[in-house]
Amino acid sequence: MSEHDVRPLAEAEFRDANRVFLSSLHRPAPTDQQWERSTARYEPGRVFGAFRSGELVGTTMALGSSLAVPGGAVLPASAVTGVGVRADHTRRGVLRALMRTQLDDVRDRGEPVAMLHASEAVIYGRFGYGEATRTRTVSLDTHRATLHADAPSGGSIRLLDKAEAGKILPELYRRIVSSRPGTISRSDGWWESRLGVFSGEQMVVAIHTGEDGVDDGFALYEAKMNDYRFDDGTCELQVGDIRGADAVATASLWRFLLGVDLVDRVVVIDRPVDEPLERLLTDRRACRVSSVQDDLWVRLVDVPAALAARGYGTAEPVVVEVRDGFLPENSGSYRIGADGVQRCAAQPQLSMDVDVLASLYLGDVGVSALAAGGRVAVHDPAAVAEADRLFAMTEAPWCGTGF
Ligand SMILES: CC(C)(COP(=O)(O)OP(=O)(O)OC[C@H]1O[C@@H](n2cnc3c(N)ncnc32)[C@H](O)[C@@H]1OP(=O)(O)O)[C@@H](O)C(=O)NCCC(=O)NCCS
Repeated sequence: MSEHDVRPLAEAEFRDANRVFLSSLHRPAPTDQQWERSTARYEPGRVFGAFRSGELVGTTMALGSSLAVPGGAVLPASAVTGVGVRADHTRRGVLRALMRTQLDDVRDRGEPVAMLHASEAVIYGRFGYGEATRTRTVSLDTHRATLHADAPSGGSIRLLDKAEAGKILPELYRRIVSSRPGTISRSDGWWESRLGVFSGEQMVVAIHTGEDGVDDGFALYEAKMNDYRFDDGTCELQVGDIRGADAVATASLWRFLLGVDLVDRVVVIDRPVDEPLERLLTDRRACRVSSVQDDLWVRLVDVPAALAARGYGTAEPVVVEVRDGFLPENSGSYRIGADGVQRCAAQPQLSMDVDVLASLYLGDVGVSALAAGGRVAVHDPAAVAEADRLFAMTEAPWCGTGF
């Protein structure tokens, strides 16, 4: 028997796992109502617990999801979440044991990738996860921010309450979501939690309907203020999600949000780093970027399958050596070219750890930048520019979905 026994949890144990996870984040145990709204996220067989002397001391879980990758393919993927170890059991290998069991499970399910959002950037690299997308938070001064006359426009906006929204948002998201690399699917359980336990009572849902009468965009927001006479200039619209099927829907949602009465600032978290928001405005300085952060961390669980599933730019093929200490079956050399990917025995031109490959995978960063940072060993300098062209994307990858 190992020091920590790790096993899939029974449904009756899910609430304990939730409690261990929340306490690791210094959050209180859920109320009955909060728990009821969270349960849909707990998928039997995908929730693991680590036990010490019969007591649950650590947990991790995953949601069945999918990930859009460069070239248009959408891969089955595990969305890992709910990771926490009780404070009196940290730094004794509990997370390592949980990650081992969970990654074996992901591989056995035939999912070539796993993904997560990290509470700290120093935790998951050792398990092969690499930072694969970034996101930015923007803050707009509504007294200055106006869309210019040529910004796309059309259609109409209506507001829904959360109950109505719950009926249409899952289908709307599925229908309008783009094939931008980094996009993930949102299950009905995800929506149930999003519109329930994780949202404030004042959350508003705005829907955009196109000129053709079809709903094609939405935004979720909540107003926060100190002064109910709206006299101190602090009323803020906190926007958690904006999705539009096209430029008209997205610009129309921005125009609407910037025009809501009594609001001084619109703060939007989780936007793509290449969104042309400033280009929509008459005064680009009305938009401040308050942070750019890592977003999705990706683990290539089955490296040959994941590499073969994405598309590549036009360039000479490159032989890349991948080192994977946690899942050693992935270690080896791969010939990567516009015509496909094969394992090979040729001398590698570049060598990198599997977490570095994950950072390249969706196109967020180039090989040259990673080589300059010492994360890629270059055996043939000519291969760097070729690999940059192979992995390059015109659109920045972006997830924008918390889980
Ligand atoms: C992060 C957390 C899950 C780690 O659990 P743990 O059981 O202490 O991790 P382990 O003992 O298995 O550590 C494995 C390795 O990661 C390192 N590590 C773990 N957490 C770390 C952290 N927060 N910062 C730096 N290194 C960390 C350990 O030092 C160890 O290093 P090694 O490979 O060189 O031996 C735990 O500290 C925790 O619950 N934190 C609060 C909640 C949280 O942040 N959860 C993650 C949500 S994404």
